[in-house]
This record gives sequence, structure tokens and C-alpha cells, in this order.
Amino acid sequence: MELTVKGRFFAPGGLREGSIRISRGRIEEVGEEVAPGGEVLDFREEGKVILPGLIDMHVHLRDFELSYKEDFRTGTRAAARGGYTVVVDMPNTLPRVNRISVLRKREELGRRRAAVDFGLYFGVPEEKGELRKEVGKRCLGIKVYLPEEGEKETLEETLRFASRERLLVITHAEDPAFFRGKERPPEAEVMGIRRMAELSLRHRFRLHLTHLSSSAGLRELERWKRRVRLSADTCPHYLLLTRRRDPLFKVFPPLRTERDRTALLSGLREGKIEVVTSDHAPHLRAEKRDPDGPGGFPGLETELPLLLTLVRRGELELEGVVKACSEVPASLLGLPAGRIEKGYVGNLTVVDLKKSFKIDPLEFESKAKYSPFQGRRVVGSPVCTIVRGRPVFLDGEVVEGLGGMNVKAYGEAG
Ligand code: DOR
Ligand code: ZN
Repeated sequence: MELTVKGRFFAPGGLREGSIRISRGRIEEVGEEVAPGGEVLDFREEGKVILPGLIDMHVHLRDFELSYKEDFRTGTRAAARGGYTVVVDMPNTLPRVNRISVLRKREELGRRRAAVDFGLYFGVPEEKGELRKEVGKRCLGIKVYLPEEGEKETLEETLRFASRERLLVITHAEDPAFFRGKERPPEAEVMGIRRMAELSLRHRFRLHLTHLSSSAGLRELERWKRRVRLSADTCPHYLLLTRRRDPLFKVFPPLRTERDRTALLSGLREGKIEVVTSDHAPHLRAEKRDPDGPGGFPGLETELPLLLTLVRRGELELEGVVKACSEVPASLLGLPAGRIEKGYVGNLTVVDLKKSFKIDPLEFESKAKYSPFQGRRVVGSPVCTIVRGRPVFLDGEVVEGLGGMNVKAYGEAG
């Protein structure tokens, strides 16, 4: 199967005009004079740009017993509509993905039902016998959820395993010892980072801090970067929102102050924070009305328009968005993706930088049809998502194909 995509595309060194031919899932040829093959999609129109396929390295697709909140199909349809070609799923499902038997089921679900490609993280197991080579064959990394897993006996064993198998350790770094009742001060984040960085110094695993939320956390991160292999991401909500009472805005770690917000935005601009993720965390609308309800909200269908709006306002550069949402995630996860270059996986995200619209959660593909960004005007929108040379979102419609692929099977570039 072949596909040729025409238009202005994002190549190393800047924007170029030309064509990209994808054959059997890989980019076969890129340039001005590419002989078209197979179906042709023409995006040569003012305002449209072809980006390397975006990768969201932190989403919760739920499914299993939490299918009422989201499932593989709806979560990945949301990804396709949001311009994401690959999503990496978190293991805090019911049952948890911290046993090999559950991991196999999870992969099978994705293969059958996903509209885009997917990656998986493994959770800290109850039994160290679960730490087998197979984890590394099917997963991109290990998720450590410090608020719940920080005291587990198997934690250090798991970290040593990650180090041996060269798996990324992605951490929710809030140390619950520093929570004050329902308050989760920045200090909890600082101490969580410190604790994980010290463990990384001891066991030598690669550490990625997810959803960084505070300027104090950012300073702590910078301190450790000189001593351990460390990267971090933040999310659109920490870049655009500050603390609110409305439980709809409840998320962990919490939204913070204007100072934190601007510090994170500068940190991202300066490359101190390398990645942006959505932390797509769908719950029922009814659950979100309860002040004691769960943290999190859907994010896959607002993430890219929000980032493109920051580009429009001159607060980020398009190149920065491509790095944070494609290039760097691909390199951290070891995927032959994130570049429009011969030999790389044929994943592309086409955006319209001029399209202006109001965020309307009723249009979401996600089961969670609400958003803290509801009603916000944004400029910039995904118009087409291409996974391994197959359009999965085009003309406003999600096109379901043959299921998704575990990106572990991508192999090498070339
Ligand atoms: O707000 C959050 N929601 N933070 C988490 O750490 C978990 C997530 C979820 O799974 O809903
Ligand atoms: Zn999360």
C-alpha cells in the first residue's frame, strides 16, 4: 500500500515544499520531485503544514473494568481526531497492568481495537516474579506512581530491572509524605523528584518525570540533570490554567499559581522541559461534579489546538511543538519515528495553522465530553492524521482501519 502526501512539511532545518511517499508503512522518499505512488493527499494550501506524527507519551485509555470512562477504541479515536499517531497507555487500570497475563490482554485489545498505534507501560508489580524479559518485549517503560507505589517492597527490585533491561522509568513524582490533608503542595513534587533522582543515581535507570506542575519542581529537576539521565514533560493545563475551586478542574498534581504557569512555559521554551503530554484522564461527567471525585480530564482532543494557539500568540515556536510532541518522545521511547525522513515510520500529522474554532467537548470522540477548556477560542487544528501510511482522520472523520500496532514492533529506522 502506498500513499503520497503533498504540501509544506517540517523537515530538519525548517519547512520545505514537496511530497512524502509512504510505502508499506515507511517513508520511502521525501523531496521536491517525488514520483507519486498510490493514493495522493494534497495539502498545498495556505496555512497547512505536515508535521512528523505526534506522540503522546502519557494517556489513560482505561478499558477493562473502567470501560464506562473510556476504552481503547474511543480513547484512540480521540487520539486520531486530536492529531496523535501514537499514544502510550498508563497501567493504572482495573485490573492493573502489572502482571504479564494482564499485559498480554492489554496488548491484544490494542491490536484489535485501536484506531492509532499504541505503546504500553508496566506498573510496579506485587510479585517480583512478574519482572520478566517479556515486559521489555511488550512495554516501553515502567510507570512509577509514587503516591501509591512509593512504599511497595518491589519498588527497588523493579527499578533495578528497568536499569538492566534499559527501560525508561516514567514517574508521577509526588511524595505523599508531604501532602497536607487534601492539599498537595509543590514541596510534595520537589521531594518526589528528589527521591526518584536519588534512586536513579543508585540504580542507574533513565528517569522521566511526567506532568511537572511547579516552578519549584522545575528547579529541582535542573539541579539533578547534571547528575542523572533525566527528562520531563508538562501538560497544556499546567501551561494555561491556574488553581480553581470547580472540581472539574481537579487534577493530580494540582493546578498551581500564575508564577508556576509562566515558569513552566519558559521552561518548555528553553528546552528544560523536553516533552508535552496530555495526561488524557477521562472520567464520567457525574464523577467530576463531586468535590471528592477523581482527578483528571480528557486532553487528547484539545492538546494540539492549545499548543498551536500558543504558537500563534508567539509564546512557543512551531519547531518547539514538533520537538516536544514528536521528536523527543520518539527518541526517549526508542522509536524510529518523529522525523520526516526516509526510513522512518510513515506517521504524519497535518495541521491547519489558520483554522480558528471554539472548543466544544460535545464533539469529542472521547467518552468524556467535558473539558476545562470548554468554550475557549483556539487557532490551529489537526486536519489529517496518518498512521503507517493510512489516513485515520480525514475530512473531520475518524477512519477506523485494521486496529493498532504495538510500537514495540516498529523495529529500527531504515
Ligand atoms: O489527575 C490524575 N488523574 N492524576 C493521576 O495521577 C491519575 C489520573 C487518572 O488516572 O485519572
Ligand atoms: Zn496520568
